[in-house]
Amino acid sequence: MTATRKERIAIYPGSFDPLTNGHVDIIARGARLFDRIVIAVLRNIEKQPLFSVEERIATAREVFRGQPNVEVDAFDGLLIDYARERNASVIVRGLRAVSDFEYEMQMALMNRRLHPDVETVFMMPAETYTYLSSRLVKEVFALGGDVTGLVPPLVEARLREKGRAG
Ligand code: PNS
Repeated sequence: MTATRKERIAIYPGSFDPLTNGHVDIIARGARLFDRIVIAVLRNIEKQPLFSVEERIATAREVFRGQPNVEVDAFDGLLIDYARERNASVIVRGLRAVSDFEYEMQMALMNRRLHPDVETVFMMPAETYTYLSSRLVKEVFALGGDVTGLVPPLVEARLREKGRAG
């Protein structure tokens, strides 16, 4: 008997300002678990980002070029509405430490209340990245610290370009 199965699509949402090796680690894990993982960059008009949404999309596409089941997109409005539009059954979030838990649990339960069919799946990054965040990368880089190994080489190059421009 041949079983046909619907493609299992996962959404990995976030700001990705910038993409870190912690994100890359989670995406690699997600790409092994799901048929397709969509990196969904939030268009947040309130925040003052370092990189524009278009720059973040272009960088992520370049980093994951050659990985056909990793897609990069942007969304605005409610994440759960975007997940449904994309026919996704899963939202992936990384959990680094206990401190992430409360906020993540609130979001997961709110999203479940809004749409119970979409499941939030938490994944832990490699322990080398448990302290890593986009905010810290930006701060360390802005103050002259070395971020090698914390972000993909392409992101490091883009940070240097921003540094020169600014
Ligand atoms: O990278 P971040 O900032 O941790 O990502 C947060 C994100 C994008 C997952 C969250 O802010 C979000 O889902 N925003 C979209 C608006 C929304 O759906 N809000 C209700 C969440 S329960």
